[in-house]
Amino acid sequence: MENYVENAVEQFRKLLNEQIAREKKMESEKKYTDYSKLEKIVIGICSGDGIGPIISAESQRLLEFLLKDEIKAGKVELRIIEGLTIENRIAKNKAIPDDVLAEIKACNVILKAPTTTLKGGTLESANVAMRRELDLYANVRPVAVKELGIDWTFFRENTEGEYVLGSHGVEIPDTLAFDFKVTTNEGTKRIARAAFEYARNNGKTNVAIVTKANIMKKTDGKFSEICHKVAEDYPEITAEDWYIDIMTANLVNENIRSKFEVFVLPNLYGDIITDEAAQIQGGVGTAGSANIGDEYAMFEPIHGTAPRLIEQGRGEYANPTSMFKATEMMLRHIGFTKKAEKLCKALVFCTEVDKKVVIDESDNSATCKEFSDYLMQQIEN
Ligand code: IPM
Ligand code: MG
Repeated sequence: MENYVENAVEQFRKLLNEQIAREKKMESEKKYTDYSKLEKIVIGICSGDGIGPIISAESQRLLEFLLKDEIKAGKVELRIIEGLTIENRIAKNKAIPDDVLAEIKACNVILKAPTTTLKGGTLESANVAMRRELDLYANVRPVAVKELGIDWTFFRENTEGEYVLGSHGVEIPDTLAFDFKVTTNEGTKRIARAAFEYARNNGKTNVAIVTKANIMKKTDGKFSEICHKVAEDYPEITAEDWYIDIMTANLVNENIRSKFEVFVLPNLYGDIITDEAAQIQGGVGTAGSANIGDEYAMFEPIHGTAPRLIEQGRGEYANPTSMFKATEMMLRHIGFTKKAEKLCKALVFCTEVDKKVVIDESDNSATCKEFSDYLMQQIEN
């Protein structure tokens, strides 16, 4: 037992020093990409696992269609990045194999299909690794249901909290397990800044700071405190403290939910509550997710690889909507606002108005490809 304790203390010392260094680095090293100044924008496409390759092939087709002229003129390059598969990651025993990471970093922006995240073991999630390696600190997840008056934007902290040391916990066999949660000053400042800037630039007047600071006193306490400090620079915006438990109830409380606009929250709460929010919108298959950093950005669906659909041999019926929403967010981020608008309009028309080609669980469901053809026809019209 003594040995275990000594080893754990040693491990904790190392982790602490690494995390202090990470916070300092965040403060000092800032690299920005201005997409409007790039001669060529390189979009990397990672096709992932399970239904990933199916929905990502359709997104590639959609991008080739929407950016036809830009690709021809050499202003945009679509670069397919192989190797971010669970087989390759297990073989190399790396969340993102080195050569794959180098390819990803050579792009300006990434469109990523879902990748398998293993439960337990030590192989880290590819999402988490990519968010860390590219320093994608703001996970922005919009959810809107017009007829319910819902228009929410979640700013989930994306690089720390419960996730940053999720694969570095301590275990004393047959006795206990210990995980770590980390909240840094710089890490919190930048996500708070992103949320309040978004609110200001989009005419929003309410930002909910969602934590469990009554229990997680140090980490969430810091998160809330720093968010309030940042809020001082935005006097026109009301910053409200909420606890995550009651906020999950609020989202299904029809009497009050439409008053919420922008949410800023630590990593794990953001992960959980955005699935709930997406379900209110029609399911996780309908939601896109932007992972934004100062230098890079990565866009993905919020859902997983749908292994059950693959096991049933129904992969071709995968719904690409969330991947298309991610594509729309990416187009907006890199400056193709009009094309993003076009795509957004067509998506609304196809999924909420016309609904002639629908992917569902019935025997009459359209396939992923049929739905994509239908969508592209609407864009053309
Ligand atoms: C998400 C996912 C990921 C997360 C998983 C796949 C690691 O649930 O993007 O919300 O927990 O962040
Ligand atoms: Mg999630």
